Amino acid sequence: MDGLAIATRGLVKRYGAQPALQGLDMNVPTGAVYGFLGPNGAGKTTLMRILVGLLRPDAGEVRLLGEPFHRGDRRRLFGVGSLIEQPAFYPYLSGRDNLRVFAAAGPYTPTTRIDEVLEYVGLRDRARSKVKTYSLGMKQRLGIAVALVSDPQLLLLDEPGNGLDPAGIVAMRELLRFLTAQGKTVLVSSHILPEVQQLADVVGIVDRGRLVREGPLERLLGESAHVRIRVDADEVARVIELLAPRGTELEPPMAGDPSHRWLVVRVTSDHAAAVNQRLAEQGVFVSGLETKSDLEALFLSLTTTLPTGGRVGPPWAEPSAGGRI
Ligand SMILES: Nc1ncnc2c1ncn2[C@@H]1O[C@H](COP(=O)(O)OP(=O)(O)O)[C@@H](O)[C@H]1O
Ligand SMILES: [Mg+2]
Repeated sequence: MDGLAIATRGLVKRYGAQPALQGLDMNVPTGAVYGFLGPNGAGKTTLMRILVGLLRPDAGEVRLLGEPFHRGDRRRLFGVGSLIEQPAFYPYLSGRDNLRVFAAAGPYTPTTRIDEVLEYVGLRDRARSKVKTYSLGMKQRLGIAVALVSDPQLLLLDEPGNGLDPAGIVAMRELLRFLTAQGKTVLVSSHILPEVQQLADVVGIVDRGRLVREGPLERLLGESAHVRIRVDADEVARVIELLAPRGTELEPPMAGDPSHRWLVVRVTSDHAAAVNQRLAEQGVFVSGLETKSDLEALFLSLTTTLPTGGRVGPPWAEPSAGGRI
């Protein structure tokens, strides 16, 4: 398990009769932004809370930064910064003073570090305003500043995109890249696929307490790719005849396609050339060929919509700080 900042094996956690993790195996490479993607209720927050020692798993193992981790192993957590539920800020103190209060709970932090992290999260100009005047997104960014203040090797961010606007997400991506460029590792959870696509370079998809897919984003995009080929209308039947027996998944042209000539072939994108060649060998020449990734279809096929919440709910419908998320 070398080169892994986080590794879990067979992690199980139940709340009474309610299973939250059902044998979760995860591998977070050092220096990556790992997107932990799953619908609401899949077990993301539960995992994060186990990783910072707030919860004890019922079974399984956790390794953090190359060493076994047990709850109560507090010193190990100095190397870990986290934003799990939004911290309860003091509304009448400034953002900067709140940060100083939170920093005082950890290892010694010089004042220059406080100003540095406020700069990182884009709050320098509002650092002296009271937190009660902050928007949701600004509070979220202050939460990230709290997680960063001790300069941790490993950063855990649970749904950090909540409350951030698109520009805030882009700024966060830059911040996370800046951190990983220094060899740090970031685990970021989300139930929103486009957010993970924007932020992460390695993705783990979690469904009902199990990791159902894991790998570099590029690879998942490749696996979920399909190829569209365009052929003469009178060749459509022949193409289907040529490709179908080989186990290639095929979608005939849609009724909505006025040309009736685009066929969708579900193969990985690296097979596009092979499909083209096979058809050419049989004297069928395609007049168009394009590859499209459909991570959303892959995500939907791997995950379950739970009766409560599920992936349809807007992020702001989640229970807020204090309760579980
Ligand atoms: N404190 C709790 N008591 C009872 N059930 C809980 C508690 N926290 C979470 N759960 C349940 O555990 C499962 C996983 O929840 P959670 O880890 O919060 O998922 P996610 O963060 O992916 O939305 C869900 O079914 C949830 O209802
Ligand atoms: Mg959660």
